[in-house]
Order: sequence, then structure tokens, then C-alpha cells
Amino acid sequence: MAVKLQLNLYAKKFQKVDKKLKNMIYHSSIVRKAMLIFLKGSCIMVNKIEISHVDKFYGRKKALKDVTLTINQGMFGLLGRNGAGKTTLMKCLATLHTIQNGSIKICGIPIKNAKEIRSITGYLPQDFSMYPTMTVQESLDYLGLLSEMENSLRKKRVEMLLKRVNLTEHRNKKIKALSGGMKRRLGIAQALLHDPKVLIVDEPTAGLDPEERIRFRNLLCEVAEERIVILSTHIVGDIEATCEDIAIMNNGKILWQGTVSNLLENAYGKVFTINVDKKYLAEIKKQFIVTGMLVQNEYATVRIISENQPEIGANLTEPNLEDAYMYCLYSNGCDISGGV
Ligand SMILES: Nc1ncnc2c1ncn2[C@@H]1O[C@H](COP(=O)(O)OP(=O)(O)O)[C@@H](O)[C@H]1O
Ligand SMILES: [Mg+2]
Repeated sequence: MAVKLQLNLYAKKFQKVDKKLKNMIYHSSIVRKAMLIFLKGSCIMVNKIEISHVDKFYGRKKALKDVTLTINQGMFGLLGRNGAGKTTLMKCLATLHTIQNGSIKICGIPIKNAKEIRSITGYLPQDFSMYPTMTVQESLDYLGLLSEMENSLRKKRVEMLLKRVNLTEHRNKKIKALSGGMKRRLGIAQALLHDPKVLIVDEPTAGLDPEERIRFRNLLCEVAEERIVILSTHIVGDIEATCEDIAIMNNGKILWQGTVSNLLENAYGKVFTINVDKKYLAEIKKQFIVTGMLVQNEYATVRIISENQPEIGANLTEPNLEDAYMYCLYSNGCDISGGV
């Protein structure tokens, strides 16, 4: 506490001294270290990510367009179809891409301070892989060594993380022998190696079987109790099971931001079911956005989205999250005729 007060005092003093002195003090390594500790300490106070009017280009292609978003402690879901810009945004947050316009602050630290940002963030890329012939334990140990982690701390963290992601009994298995779910859990362990304040996880459930998916989601929720976790996905079920705060991306833009409950509320009164003869299905598909269908013998029960009560016999029904997501895309002018 006393140290923190002292550091606060330093920070206040900093605002008063003239620029020349400020530069001089900043370049003295002791004060620089003190400022770093202060910045890290202040993460407890500013535990959020602030993204403001960000543009990102790949050559001439604009992949992020005026993205503005605030992300708070806990699980945050970034939902969007393929090509929406999720990976690009995550790579910008992980300092693997630079942005052309706008600003990003993670726990109060500007994104251009890449080293500091990397010290407080963990990243699990969409295409995470390790050397196939290394064992689970060796790979974690190796990554710890690469990041110059002190020996005893490294050993302690590896042991603790193996337990946390449920891989202790598989510690001597080679990477090439792991299931998809185990690989993702190892991916989370490597991302948590230096106990980051922020965990960025890109499409982690793609290709997992249902059991592994549930297990993995539960792990993420546990991890999010003490940090910011950003999860990107195109699978609505991932969001439904884990996040309350979400953003929907499309074509490089944030289409919508709010809570899962808000998203569902928006779709109330817009979702209907119709029982029709199978032969009318093609016509129904032409007229409405179809979010579900159950065909039995000659008849089909079709779930549709419509702004107004359809003239044909339709029953108003409670929206699920998939309906609400489709309605959000539709009501924001996205072309969803080919599905999402
Ligand atoms: N390295 C790159 N060079 C050029 N275009 C890219 C590159 N990476 C992604 N893109 C394009 O940027 C857009 C957003 O891609 P991405 O961020 O991967 O979306 P998502 O992760 O939501 O599927 C897409 O149109 C994609 O083709
Ligand atoms: Mg992606």
C-alpha cells in the first residue's frame, strides 16, 4: 500500500515538472521501472480495453472500419461470420498488427507500447500449433524459457497450469497424439503462462466435438473470473453458453454491441413458426428468413423471421440466440440470403 501511495505521488509530481525534466526522469531506469510498476498496478483500477475509431488496412483492403468498442472484466464475445474482421481485431490487440487510424488502450496502456502490452496479454491464435514431437510439459517449459521466465517460477507455473487445464495426466504425451480439445487446452495454458490480465482467444472451439467444446467453454469461464477474456467465434452456441457482453462484427465494422439479453429483446415479436405442406417450402424460403426447419412426412414446421405478423397462419414464438443474431444482421442491412 505504502509503495502504491509513493508511486501515486510520483505520478502526480510527473504532471507538474516541465517537459525536459520529465524526459530526463523518465529515462532514468529506476524511475522507469517505478512507472512500469505503477502502470501495472493501475491495471487493477482500469481493468478494461478501450478501442476507439480504429482502421486497419491490408494494402488497399480495409479490414477494420472505424471500430469503437469498450471491453470490461469477464468474458466478452466477438461474434461474426467468416471474413468479418475478428482475427484482424484480435491480432491488433495482441500487437501482431499495427493499426492505421484510431487508438487502443489495454488496461490504460497505449497499444504502441507493445512490450508492456505483451507483458499483460495472452493470445491463443486461431491456428495454434506447437512442435509435434514435443511433449505437453516440454512445450510449456520451452515457451517459459523463451520468455525468459525465472527457473523456479517457470516450474511452478507449468505445474499449476497443467492442473488447471486438466492435462497433468497427459503431460508426457506428444503434441501430435493430442485430441483437438487437448491441443486447445494446451493453447490456453501457454497463453496463461505469464498470468496475463487479458486473454485473447480466437475461434477456439472450431473443430471440437460437443463434449470437448463444453469442457473448453467451462475452462474459459473459470479463467475469466479474474481477468478480461475476449472470445471470437462464428458459433452462436459458444456465446450463449459463456458471455453476457457481446459485439457483432460484419464486414470490418461493429454492427452491434450490448448484452445477450438485449440482443434477444430486439428480436421479440419478430420470430414465428409456420406449419406448412412440404411443397410450399421453396416459396416460404423466398419470402422469409428461415432460421430453422423440422420436416416430418408431408409437413414442415418452419421457424421464420418477419418484421410483421405473416398473413399465413403463423404463431409468434420466443426468439433463441440464433434467431436474434440473424435478426440483428437482417435489421442492420446485411445480406443473409445465402445464410451466415
Ligand atoms: N493478411 C491479409 N492480407 C489481406 N487480406 C486479409 C489478410 N488477413 C485477412 N484479410 C481479409 O480481411 C478480412 C477480415 O479477415 P479476418 O480478420 O480473418 O476475419 P474473420 O477472422 O472474422 O474471419 C477478410 O476479407 C480477409 O480476406
Ligand atoms: Mg478468424
